[in-house]
Amino acid sequence: MRKDLAADLESGRTLPAPWYTDRSALERELERIFRRSWQYAGAAADLVGEGAFLTVRAGRVPIVLARGRDGELRGFINVCRHRGSELVLEERGCRRTLQCHYHAWTYDLDGSLRAAPGSAAEEGFDRAEFSLLPVAVGEWGPWVFVNPDPQAAPLAEALGGLPAILEAAGLDLAALRPREGARYDIAANWKVVVDNYLECYHCPVAHPAFADLIDLANYTVEEYGNFSVQGGPLRTSAGNGEAPYRVRAGVEEGVYVLLFPNFAINVYPGPGNVSLNVFEPVDERRTVARYQYFFADAVPEDEVREFMEFVDQIQHEDTVLCESVQRGLESGCFDQGRLLLSRESALRHFQRQVLAAVDG
Ligand code: FES
Ligand SMILES: [Fe+2]
Repeated sequence: MRKDLAADLESGRTLPAPWYTDRSALERELERIFRRSWQYAGAAADLVGEGAFLTVRAGRVPIVLARGRDGELRGFINVCRHRGSELVLEERGCRRTLQCHYHAWTYDLDGSLRAAPGSAAEEGFDRAEFSLLPVAVGEWGPWVFVNPDPQAAPLAEALGGLPAILEAAGLDLAALRPREGARYDIAANWKVVVDNYLECYHCPVAHPAFADLIDLANYTVEEYGNFSVQGGPLRTSAGNGEAPYRVRAGVEEGVYVLLFPNFAINVYPGPGNVSLNVFEPVDERRTVARYQYFFADAVPEDEVREFMEFVDQIQHEDTVLCESVQRGLESGCFDQGRLLLSRESALRHFQRQVLAAVDG
């Protein structure tokens, strides 16, 4: 552990600018964070039935998830053992086997190599040596997670007390179904995007609609092992026709969770709704925010639209902020910032985790 940097973080200073601008910093994080942590993959509802598959990336590791004939959900490195082509190119679908589009090596849904054209005539070729490489898979309610490290501790350990916190907030995970997706390209380092997510100090300035909905005077931030939780109650004026979307009974508070490293769960007041964000690094100065919306079946389509427009507006406001921070970090005129720990302590929590993972 870099002693002085750890002490800097404790005193409210931030990670230095090169952590956000240098290719080598991102390489380090891809290796030491993204190759060994649990990351959101997709909706369990998209992986029902034999042969259902989904492809996803954990950092730069391509992964394919597939439901086997035995009903088990497995994950593999999505790279063919023959010459290294990506194996499954489609985002999702249903297949009887995983067949490579290059030379048609064909893998069973359990990852074993079933056929390689012409290999019978090949001396010393043993199919058993070329199974797909497994990764760890975990499920939580309607959500599926992957960890490129097949020896990873179970997902439940990474989640800790988080499921109980969401349940206590009144969210019924079992009632949620995936409804819509969205994708935002942000010209900023993935940690700029996560940092921005982790404080609402900027909300009154940058998100007027959010500030009208949530009572920011009673906004709280709590830190736990692998995640942090922020949120606040509905403003008393919201829900009386002034809210940006229709707020009715259900969850009463806004709850916003960041699970290390790059997964956010947003629960807004009202009937069963969750928007998930995965902040995926593209390179050291570009991030994709992948959104997936889940709603209870009872939420009608027009309310879904209204809600998505509300969230879309907030994301556009955040994109402007993140991109301006990235330009500032790259100016050569800024090294470390100074957090207001009464408002921004969740950033320190996140940055501590980054530092520990990179140095550990
Ligand atoms: S690279 Fe997949 S079959 Fe050749
Ligand atoms: Fe924001």
